[in-house]
Amino acid sequence: MAKTRTSFLCQACGAVSSRWQGRCDACGEWNSIVEEVVDSGVGAGPKAARSNGRPANLVPLAGETESAARVVTGLAEFDRVTGGGFVRGSALLVGGDPGIGKSTLLLQSAGALAAQGKRVIYVSGEEAVAQVRLRAQRLGLGEANVLLAAETNVEIILATLESGPPPDLVIIDSIQTLWTDRVDSAPGTVTQVRTSAQALTRIAKKSGAAVVLVGHVTKDGQIAGPRVVEHMVDAVLYFEGDSSHTFRILRGVKNRYGATDEIGVFAMTERGLEQVANPSALFLDQRDREAAGSAVFAGMEGTRPLLVEIQALVAPSPLGTPRRAVVGWDASRLSMVLAVLETRCGVRIGANDIYLNVAGGLKISEPAADLAVAAALISSLTGAALPPDAVYFGEISLAGGVRPVVHGALRLREAQKLGFRSVSTGRLGKADRATDLAVTEYGQLSEMVSHIAAQGKMPAREEEEAW
Ligand code: TYD
Ligand code: MG
Repeated sequence: MAKTRTSFLCQACGAVSSRWQGRCDACGEWNSIVEEVVDSGVGAGPKAARSNGRPANLVPLAGETESAARVVTGLAEFDRVTGGGFVRGSALLVGGDPGIGKSTLLLQSAGALAAQGKRVIYVSGEEAVAQVRLRAQRLGLGEANVLLAAETNVEIILATLESGPPPDLVIIDSIQTLWTDRVDSAPGTVTQVRTSAQALTRIAKKSGAAVVLVGHVTKDGQIAGPRVVEHMVDAVLYFEGDSSHTFRILRGVKNRYGATDEIGVFAMTERGLEQVANPSALFLDQRDREAAGSAVFAGMEGTRPLLVEIQALVAPSPLGTPRRAVVGWDASRLSMVLAVLETRCGVRIGANDIYLNVAGGLKISEPAADLAVAAALISSLTGAALPPDAVYFGEISLAGGVRPVVHGALRLREAQKLGFRSVSTGRLGKADRATDLAVTEYGQLSEMVSHIAAQGKMPAREEEEAW
């Protein structure tokens, strides 16, 4: 009999420690370490994967590949993120908050593939068959030729997949509900999630089916985060969005067969997710053009230009330590922009409460947003509304310079397409200047600050006050 021993696993990142700790050393998560039983010693490990010292098959790199290596769903926004469809024999993880729409998205892609005559198996561990059917009817997929199973045991799922003709696509919703006979720990623990995911990635390679694993991301450590699965799968997509907004973004964070940081944009409607072909128009839809503190950022998400509104509110603070609240952007990046405004441009802003919001619930990670953020801040501080037909992009350096960023031409073309007429940015490349937009190139942030402030009222600096 195999010896059993227990070890302490972080439910967020999967790190193993020899004793219980309040905080995981590896990922810094609090209260995420749980004791789990693991097999060890002689006879441990996956029984089916015994090697017997057999040599591996060596094949030349320059071999033929299967012609139809990809399964294209036809949902353009989805295929864009996967890099042109599901890859046969690969495993893909779709993560996201509960209720964001993962099951809906995957049921729709399952329906789209089934309509092409592909064999699609949808294994639901969370909902009963009747519930999945109801949802499918709501999505207009009531007649779709998708095979359903409500099952959570990995061995039964594997046996199901191995019987009958090989499937093209298998969806497992969700990885946290699975349990395997091989390990003793409870479903949802790191050991269970990892062992189940391993078995399913192996079946993907073996059967040539594309296997999609759905994983919930939860804030508390109760359910293992899908992060432990990330390194096992070939691609990781995150489905994100704000439940108070209708649109959802599918973001590629890892992809062995395509570019990462590509996004697909969807809107959640009564009849499921609809593709948004022109996201910039959607994000700018509700914009208040006359308000001070609003700047349009010409951003990039992967290979796609995306215009978004950045809103800032600068208000005198009643507190000793002024408040900073940032939604959709990096808070430390905001502190940097504020420090540069204060020290390099002589703007007295630090003592105010500052609120910054990326409209629509989008999350921006590009440093190119610095200039738009600075413009929104100065606009709010001085009360001068920015021209409604202007866009901003550029990275700000600690020395107060405006640095050029990549993809200038794409950003300008998108702005022009949406009817914008002017752009403020750093120095542009020669090719990028060939645009119909009125371009203002700033070498220093202070030049833009004086330009905006000339239209409004800049609060006096402390040393100028007479007291
Ligand atoms: P779901 O796909 O169940 O989320 P997940 O699998 O990520 O947990 O989506 C659930 C939410 O989506 C739910 O709050 C209702 C909403 N929804 C719609 O608005 N329209 C629809 O057609 C469907 C199916 C769901
Ligand atoms: Mg679900």
